[in-house]
Amino acid sequence: MLLLTNAFHLALLAIVAPSPFVSAGNVQKSGLQLPASAATNKAQVVTMFTDAYSVYQKVAFGHDDLEPVSLSFDDSRNGWGATIVDGMSTMLVMGLTDLYQQAVQFAGTIDFNQSNVPSETVSVFETTIRFVGGFLSAYQLNGEQDKILLEKAQQVADKLAFAWVGNNDVPFGELNFTTNEPIVAASNIAEAGTLTLEWTLLSQLTGNQTYADLAQKSVKHIASLGTQLPGLAAQGIDPSSGEAVGSYVTWSGGSDSYFEYLIKFPRLFPNSDPIFATTWLTAVDSSIKTLKKTSTVGGHVYLADFDGTQIRHIGSHLACFHAGNWILGGKLLNNDTIVDVALELADACWNTYASTATGIGPETFAWISSDGSFTGGDAPSASDLSFYSKNGFYITGSDYILRPEVLESNFYAWRATGDTKYLDRAESAIESVNKFLEVNNAFAGINDVNNANGGGGFIDDTESFFFAEVLKYLYLTFDDPNHISIDEFVFNTECHPFKAGPAEINISHSPPKTSPLPSSPLNLPLPQISPNPRLPNPFSSILGLL
Ligand SMILES: *[C@@H]1O[C@H](CO)[C@@H](O)[C@H](O)[C@H]1NC(C)=O
Ligand SMILES: *[C@@H]1O[C@H](CO)[C@@H](O)[C@H](O)[C@H]1NC(C)=O
Ligand SMILES: *[C@@H]1O[C@H](CO)[C@@H](O)[C@H](O)[C@H]1NC(C)=O
Ligand SMILES: *[C@@H]1O[C@H](CO)[C@@H](O)[C@H](O)[C@H]1NC(C)=O
Ligand SMILES: *[C@@H]1O[C@H](CO)[C@@H](O)[C@H](O)[C@H]1NC(C)=O
Repeated sequence: MLLLTNAFHLALLAIVAPSPFVSAGNVQKSGLQLPASAATNKAQVVTMFTDAYSVYQKVAFGHDDLEPVSLSFDDSRNGWGATIVDGMSTMLVMGLTDLYQQAVQFAGTIDFNQSNVPSETVSVFETTIRFVGGFLSAYQLNGEQDKILLEKAQQVADKLAFAWVGNNDVPFGELNFTTNEPIVAASNIAEAGTLTLEWTLLSQLTGNQTYADLAQKSVKHIASLGTQLPGLAAQGIDPSSGEAVGSYVTWSGGSDSYFEYLIKFPRLFPNSDPIFATTWLTAVDSSIKTLKKTSTVGGHVYLADFDGTQIRHIGSHLACFHAGNWILGGKLLNNDTIVDVALELADACWNTYASTATGIGPETFAWISSDGSFTGGDAPSASDLSFYSKNGFYITGSDYILRPEVLESNFYAWRATGDTKYLDRAESAIESVNKFLEVNNAFAGINDVNNANGGGGFIDDTESFFFAEVLKYLYLTFDDPNHISIDEFVFNTECHPFKAGPAEINISHSPPKTSPLPSSPLNLPLPQISPNPRLPNPFSSILGLL
């Protein structure tokens, strides 16, 4: 009798208790067909890479960035040759073997014992996504034969590991590589929460579990902090105490890739703790309920920010990664609601390109919805309102610094739907980049995307992410969908592909446990965001207006 009862209970449990393990759906649509014109576009993107890279080789080799207007160089990432390391996985994806071999040679000579720019601290986040991520991706893509790349990834990670002080869960954002001392400043959840893919892979490849433990404890800590909106951690964090700083919520810079990795991490590592995917799903659900708004003109769907008190109707190029990330997560979790919203977000982001005189989208913008137009800054001017009445958004920061996010989401949308409108958009972007950003056979940012006569002038810098991300996403959009399939690779936030096994996501059906909200006032001053190019102060445009 007892035995029977137990068996009955077990059987009941098996039926009633939902499985925590989701056998994830495919992300790519099966049977995708590229039109004949794709080959021309793909070849043109390779030419753009080789042209710009050859200018880099001539005037900037070994430095971080090419300065394409003055034909000089800039060391914005400690002078370790960021363009070379960040460009390596693109070279392999494009089949540029000679350039890749030269890059591997160079990589062996990098000295990570100090910053080559003595006045510059080292960013844990930037160095992880560009260098550790770049090395590990190239190492995998070339069949794990270039051991030097794994060694270099480990060397730099061993230095970055000094960012975890004592038993702190959360790393400091910046280090002095000469003294291995952290720079004590406020950090943010993007800097502290975007390390899990790279550091866990490093553990897997080296057999040293420490890297994985460090990165994961930081994200688990952030995910368990109290929040006003479920799943949506505040942007600021104090690495010394592990406490949230302020209560600003956004999918933009300073927060972005923390949310991005919550779903990419369990995709790459199926045995991961359910807190990652569960927090991602909670964050998305909360965003759909509270942050999702529709513009009164054009019906564009966007995610607003929340400053702890009010909704701010602002958006940014950086935040536009969200569409691709929601397509990925929605497909993996078999949730069409999320995919449908994601495709609307991708359309709204593309609209910021389609509406300007150059066909390139601006850095920051704002919206008006039926429930308001508050941005945290000035009310829209007459010319803003005039632009808005035609385009359904208005520009608050008119520059473009060769960022990838809109084209990244466009790539996911193409691979997930097979709708050729996304190919048309990518083709239009290639045309605009060549027409408006080309200078000295390389590519520069511009100050005013809405001036087709060059009136705003060039920005004399080619960040390494142009080679790592913009050109790779464009290339892959026009490449055989079975090459670097989203069902076989997970891209880090710098577009470095990592090999992934079958998709199985460990997720919990109860909401993540969080600690109670701190008793301090909810609307503390905005955190200080380090003013580096990958993570510009997302509030700069707002602060400028305040
Ligand atoms: C960097 O430091 C390590 C450990 O102190 C040392 O073994 C290595 O030789 C140094 N590398 C260079 C290039 O100086
Ligand atoms: C790093 O520390 C050294 C030694 O104290 C100091 O000379 C150098 O200025 C520091 N570098 C930075 C970027 O703070
Ligand atoms: C593993 O990596 C950590 C972080 O760099 C380091 O402190 C530790 O000594 C390494 N362990 C082994 C066994 O090499
Ligand atoms: C899912 O996560 C839980 C909690 O960390 C763990 O015990 C379990 O083994 C994981 N499941 C799988 C199938 O990896
Ligand atoms: C799908 O996502 C929506 C939006 O976040 C959510 O409300 C819904 O519960 C999800 N469905 C499942 C089955 O998880």
